[in-house]
Amino acid sequence: MNIALLGYGTVGRSLDELLGERPVGIVVSRILRRSGKTQGDPRMTDDIASILSDESIEVVAEAMSGEEPAAAYIESALLAGKHVVTANKAAIAPMLPKLLSIARERGVVLAFEASAGGVIPWIANLRRAARFDRIDRFCGILNGTGNYLIDRMTCGLSFGEALAEAQALGFAEADPTADVGGFDLVNKSIVTAAAAFGCVPGVETPVPVVGLEKLSVDFMHLAAREGKTVRFMAFGRCAANRPNAQAPALALGVAPVLLSSTSLEAGVGRNYNLASFYGDVAGPMSFFGQGAGGRPTADAMIADMLDIARGAVPATPPVTAAPDDSLLFGTGLFE
Ligand code: HSE
Repeated sequence: MNIALLGYGTVGRSLDELLGERPVGIVVSRILRRSGKTQGDPRMTDDIASILSDESIEVVAEAMSGEEPAAAYIESALLAGKHVVTANKAAIAPMLPKLLSIARERGVVLAFEASAGGVIPWIANLRRAARFDRIDRFCGILNGTGNYLIDRMTCGLSFGEALAEAQALGFAEADPTADVGGFDLVNKSIVTAAAAFGCVPGVETPVPVVGLEKLSVDFMHLAAREGKTVRFMAFGRCAANRPNAQAPALALGVAPVLLSSTSLEAGVGRNYNLASFYGDVAGPMSFFGQGAGGRPTADAMIADMLDIARGAVPATPPVTAAPDDSLLFGTGLFE
């Protein structure tokens, strides 16, 4: 299977390396890079049109950062009849219904396992569970950078020192304000909602978000003295099947929260993620693994490509939900 790789940063480079180390029948035949960075490797180009018109390329693996031009490239690739695998939640979250509808019309797959939870098969397990069970809610440490910051600040580093480490290790986005401000988690909560509940918030419905900017080492030590641990988390709950409802009711939210130091989440260090959902039949289920970093993220993208090679079918596009923030409060569900 010939693929084109869009972007050659931390994730793109790791994807290329991994496929070189372990041949699985996936060949990176073209690589899109910015002008001026295409020398030295005959696969490199700065011309997206030449990739989209190349009939030998079956899959476009999008490993760029940020919303544009990645979102436009994903849409164009789907319209050109190519499967798309992406790790880029910022590009897909605002337009998932549209992109998945195009994919279905064209009979191709838009796969985004790597966009939430890093190497954890989070999206796959949500989809698998939701085939029969009804997923009521989810919560997760789904930002590796945020978790790394908290972990290192607990060890005494300042916010700035911890962020510099996270950037050097390739956990943070090119623009770390998305990680620190919680917008990366907002996008991950949206792709999670699509897989778990089959619905997403309307574009005019912002997800409430509290960022990490104001977190201080003093506050973390105070929390520890009280037997609490800070974790930066995304939450979601959906109420389907309400009488006379036109659409499912959905609440998503992102905030640093104080948890008991004996909770599962409190034991999650470094760049690791822990994501949990609650199914009517299954009860609670939790998934743990590396949530950020080049090789873990590239590994999840390769898993998506192998699914496509084995005949994965296009997913059902999510519907637009009605907002109901009250779903997250007064229930005691996430305490
Ligand atoms: N910047 C993201 C994080 C990368 O730190 O979780 C993985 O999505």
